[in-house]
Amino acid sequence: MNAWMEDLRRQFEQDLAQAAGLDQLKSVRDKWLAREGGIITGEMKRLRDLPKEERPAFGQAMNQLREFAEVRLEEVRTAVQKAEQQKSRKQIDVTRPGFPFACGAQHPIKQLQAEIAEIFVSLGFKVFDLPEVEKDYYNFEALNMPRNHPARDAQDTFYFDDSLLLRTHCSTVQVHAMESMKPPIRAVSLGKVYRRDPFDATHSPMFNQVDVLVVDQGITMGDLKGMLEVFLKKVFHTELRMRLRPGFFPFVEPGAEVDISCIFCRGTGCRICKQSGWIEILGAGMVHPKVLRMSGVDDSRYSGFAWGMGIDRVAILKYGVNDIRLFFENDLRFLSQF
Ligand code: PHE
Repeated sequence: MNAWMEDLRRQFEQDLAQAAGLDQLKSVRDKWLAREGGIITGEMKRLRDLPKEERPAFGQAMNQLREFAEVRLEEVRTAVQKAEQQKSRKQIDVTRPGFPFACGAQHPIKQLQAEIAEIFVSLGFKVFDLPEVEKDYYNFEALNMPRNHPARDAQDTFYFDDSLLLRTHCSTVQVHAMESMKPPIRAVSLGKVYRRDPFDATHSPMFNQVDVLVVDQGITMGDLKGMLEVFLKKVFHTELRMRLRPGFFPFVEPGAEVDISCIFCRGTGCRICKQSGWIEILGAGMVHPKVLRMSGVDDSRYSGFAWGMGIDRVAILKYGVNDIRLFFENDLRFLSQF
């Protein structure tokens, strides 16, 4: 290679060294190798004007120069590309804290249900998972409410047809448990119940209950009271007093409405308990002998107690919520507080 060519090569290397980035590299390629106007391509065209004997050496040298330029351009291009990739990789800061993402949780009513079920499991109760679409027989008839019984009106019912309905209470557990177990029976069932009620701050056509049945020899009202007291203290996590008032339910005799001392004012009187110091919390009683007999339990040997309670109502009291609809509207601003 003669000095003149050596000169070209050096100029090319200089251009290459100054090129920063892929765009400038492309300009260098055009400047030296473009078909029209490239320096090397232009020099090649001079071949024709040379004396015949000089052409082979010149041609060979120019080819070498072109190949050299192409190889160098490719080398530098890969190096630049790699550097640019590395630079963009460095922009990802792996030490930066991650974005928070929404994580689901159990609905407050479900949490309370689980807590209640756990109390009964620890007391040796069998938990029944019962149908919401129920036979009239289990919801009413076997609970001493034959057709046309006036007590049916107190629970305005969604019927599918003459014999099928949406259960209006979880007391169906009494019948199912006595049909499937022999005494001693300790049964509990939790779930949704349905009534043709308005949807307002204190009513909902769908709500949740827990119902309990205990049947054995010698069960008395004293057992009922003792168990209720233990249970209510565990659910509300606080000391409270309890009182029983006579109450009527066709499937118990005697029947009682159970009040607890107001958990807000501790019985001194406030807005929540309407200054009475007491809050009505559940219905209870001794299982009616007719109900025992209808489900095949010998009422001369066995007696039992039963009670049923609204779970949403407990949640409202426990968490100080003033509108039952909040539990069913699934607004995350409300739900995420639990
Ligand atoms: N089932 C009754 C209700 O829904 C509650 C209850 C249960 C009353 C068991 C007495 C015994 O109101």
